[in-house]
Amino acid sequence: MNILLVGSGGREHALAWKIRHNPNNTLYIAPGNGGTATLGHNVPIADTDIPGLVAFAQDKKIDLVVAGPEVPLTLGLTDTLASHGIACFGPCAYAAQLEGSKQFAKEMMQRTGVPTAKFQVFDAYEPALAYVRAHPLPMVIKADGLAAGKGVVIAQTYQEAEQALHDMMVSKVFGQAGEKIIVEEALQGEEASLLAFCDGTTVIPMPSLQDHKRIGDNDTGPNTGGMGAYSPAPVLPDDEVQAMTDRVIRPIVQDMAAQGHPFKGVLYAGLMFTPHGPMVLEYNVRFGDPECQPLMARLQSDLVEIMLACVQGRLRPELVHFSPEPSCCVVMAAKGYPQSYPKGMEISGLHEAAKCPGVTVFHAGTTTDGQKIRTSGGRVLGVTALGTSLAQARETAYAGVEAISFENAYYRSDIANKGLGR
Ligand code: AMP
Ligand code: GLY
Repeated sequence: MNILLVGSGGREHALAWKIRHNPNNTLYIAPGNGGTATLGHNVPIADTDIPGLVAFAQDKKIDLVVAGPEVPLTLGLTDTLASHGIACFGPCAYAAQLEGSKQFAKEMMQRTGVPTAKFQVFDAYEPALAYVRAHPLPMVIKADGLAAGKGVVIAQTYQEAEQALHDMMVSKVFGQAGEKIIVEEALQGEEASLLAFCDGTTVIPMPSLQDHKRIGDNDTGPNTGGMGAYSPAPVLPDDEVQAMTDRVIRPIVQDMAAQGHPFKGVLYAGLMFTPHGPMVLEYNVRFGDPECQPLMARLQSDLVEIMLACVQGRLRPELVHFSPEPSCCVVMAAKGYPQSYPKGMEISGLHEAAKCPGVTVFHAGTTTDGQKIRTSGGRVLGVTALGTSLAQARETAYAGVEAISFENAYYRSDIANKGLGR
């Protein structure tokens, strides 16, 4: 099959790796990275260039397009490809609003009875300010639209809350994405992620995971795209995954189908396990990054078969098997991330790391000139390992990390510790 994978991060390298487990698949990656270049043909088309991606797919007679990130989905990649008769794994633009608009997601949760934090939506500054001043701290201020993971502020003081409102609604730091905002009750508890394959009707969950969003050990410092992840997360054990899917994923998929926009692709629920029970923080309409890396390490089935079944509405449990072995991914970043950081540092030790049994090194922000691999982004690599236990997966992943070096490499030293502590 001819496959076009859209995106350039660690998630996309992990998807490319799994797609190429079947050597008969010809793979193009737009735009890809230094890792995907070893598995297929990187093509210099931006993941937001919908006409460019569609034209390429037509030209190369692509059988399946796989959307990694959310932005092309919210821009209508799937819809436009469908109008040209080309299959795309990932939801239509209407369904992608689950991630593209927090108001859309919150109202759908409210309508379908999915547990979530109490909230209020505002499209004008003055009423939002009055509401904030009249409600207890801490409180959460969120930009309605996509803000590259930076649109959520957990305000501990009124000054912080008012600053966030001003930044989003008056200074418009997130542009249009902050024209509407959500003020939400702050929840306390442990977070975990639940992702499911969906074909519009049938929903098949994957094993649970836990991401590590903060830059520093013990969840300190600013939020990032994710500094590591492991699976399963003991806070959501395997024998509770099906019931949680019925509670937080199935109602959404049913409602989408009833609205005439069946959800096909991966639906991702970000969960908080509060003292009052689990609640949904957000939905994503794609694999997480880095959550995809430990999931692909565990997936034993043919990913392309699953994706085609989702697109064609014939998903069945027999198609989806995961290894019982836990997995762990440690992200190596450029020092300075998530603020400014240098690029172009040469990376060494990749071959040595890959020799550690059970280790796969996924590239995120890397480029290659065919000889050397250099850093080109904040999150550089995701060193991923399977193990007979979570402790062993963790240890192996860190052995891989130790083998790799580039100037000022930074990584968290406590990935998966929460899971081991339970
Ligand atoms: P979101 O983009 O909605 O997932 O928010 C990003 C992160 O902000 C989440 O992973 C949580 O760590 C945090 N967060 C979001 N909403 C809340 C909330 N209501 N209470 C506490 N933390 C939250
Ligand atoms: N790691 C968080 C995300 O992909 O949304």
